[in-house]
Amino acid sequence: MTEKLIFPADRYEVREYSAGGRSILVRAYTGLDYCERPKDAIQKLNLFVPEAYFHRETIGDYSAGNAPIFMPNTVGGYMPGPYDEPGEDRRTGEPNSIFRALEHGYVVASAGVRGRTTGKGSAEFFEGSLAGKAVTGTGKKTGRAPAFIVDYKAAIRYLRLNRDLILGDTEKIITNGTSAGGALSALAGASGNNEEYEPYLMEIGAADERDDVFAASCYCPIVDLEHADMAYEWLFSGQDRYYWPRFERTPEGIKQISGEGELTEEQKQISPLLKKQFSEYINSLGLRDMGGHDHLTLDGNGEGPFFELVKQFVISSVEDELIARRNGRPVIGRPVPGSEIDKQDYITVSEDLFVDLDWQRFVEKITRMKTVPAFDALDLSAVENEEFGDEDTDARHFTAFSMEHSHVQGAEIADDRIIKLMNPVRQILSGEPDVAKHWRIRHGMFDRDTSLAVPVLLWATLFNRGIDADLSLPWGLPHSGDYDLDDLFEWIDFLVLNRDEIP
Ligand code: DHB
Repeated sequence: MTEKLIFPADRYEVREYSAGGRSILVRAYTGLDYCERPKDAIQKLNLFVPEAYFHRETIGDYSAGNAPIFMPNTVGGYMPGPYDEPGEDRRTGEPNSIFRALEHGYVVASAGVRGRTTGKGSAEFFEGSLAGKAVTGTGKKTGRAPAFIVDYKAAIRYLRLNRDLILGDTEKIITNGTSAGGALSALAGASGNNEEYEPYLMEIGAADERDDVFAASCYCPIVDLEHADMAYEWLFSGQDRYYWPRFERTPEGIKQISGEGELTEEQKQISPLLKKQFSEYINSLGLRDMGGHDHLTLDGNGEGPFFELVKQFVISSVEDELIARRNGRPVIGRPVPGSEIDKQDYITVSEDLFVDLDWQRFVEKITRMKTVPAFDALDLSAVENEEFGDEDTDARHFTAFSMEHSHVQGAEIADDRIIKLMNPVRQILSGEPDVAKHWRIRHGMFDRDTSLAVPVLLWATLFNRGIDADLSLPWGLPHSGDYDLDDLFEWIDFLVLNRDEIP
């Protein structure tokens, strides 16, 4: 290993960052090389440390020795996720998670990772994504699967390698991301030290170190891609209209292009086939319920204990919202207009207590967003198809179903080895890698980018391995993330400081 991966402790700037009318003083180490043989200019790391720690001061219960390292990524839509800095969130105008985490006393590591449009350029916009400012330009599409997790791991290894030079606790790394970035965080949590990534890590010259993490925070993680089409139809089969807005970055800001329509006859025909496959898939996993007794199964109609589990999470969300409303809690995030709990006539409430929920009408209310299949598109047009492409082949299938029904002559299916390296659920189920001990999963109740069954399945696989996983589906929220950073930080503090209970 060369000098390149040694942390340059003397190369920093003390900077004051302002956001939301507040300011913080931090030591900024920017543009760090986290791998020896980068393929793209984006593969760099920014590390920020509260300046207070260099003056033996504390922030809350944290000091230079025990501060956890918060590692938010800026990936959306599998686009490149550039390294970032403290400031205002470009969408909400509020202080971003980096600013908030530093203010709270965490050390923050922001790694730039490659994505599906690396070397290509694109005007697409995705929630959580910072890709608009991505630096590419090599002309080489080196960012396809599994590049984003390879880069994230390389950055984690870099922090570990330099554990004695970096302030903060490299045994307390917490990843965070939204959507595809939530999937990336889940992958980091699920695949610690999995040797199958080794050839890719070697290729970019990552440090020879451990890459497991302490905790994973995942907002609306788009995971289990090879079963996500089935999960989507399990929820939405029978709903033939779709409402699929797309977003683009323009010089005037983010523009929405509406995309509404009716499923084709072929799509209507294959929807129930996929729905049925979801039951078979769930039944094949042998997962047990919370009591540890019954198997989480589904019958031929998609009903049964797994459905009851999903429903239970939805009902908990309703109950939490009723309590929050009663207590006058301020609105969290940016709820979908018309999602106010008292306007949902498919929910029966009596004296502020939940009584009943009409599932079918609830699903009709949140609406189908995507066509069929939702992820592995038959014409290879989905973002996931591009993610599974490479230098030579722009897009590939990743399910046997779509391969069989493909509309594209000569279409290929991705190597199963790579599909696995993109799937945290499969790696958790395999029982092999060093899975993060703590997980926090949030998926907005009105988020239709993937099926509600997906975060519940991620939670159930963790639960079945005896891993601490906290899932909730905040009422009314769309596909989004970082909306409850106060609660996220409370959760982290509870784990890191070994507090007896969350205050
Ligand atoms: C994202 C959203 C999607 O609907 C999807 O299929 C993949 C990624 C995202 O916002 O990152």
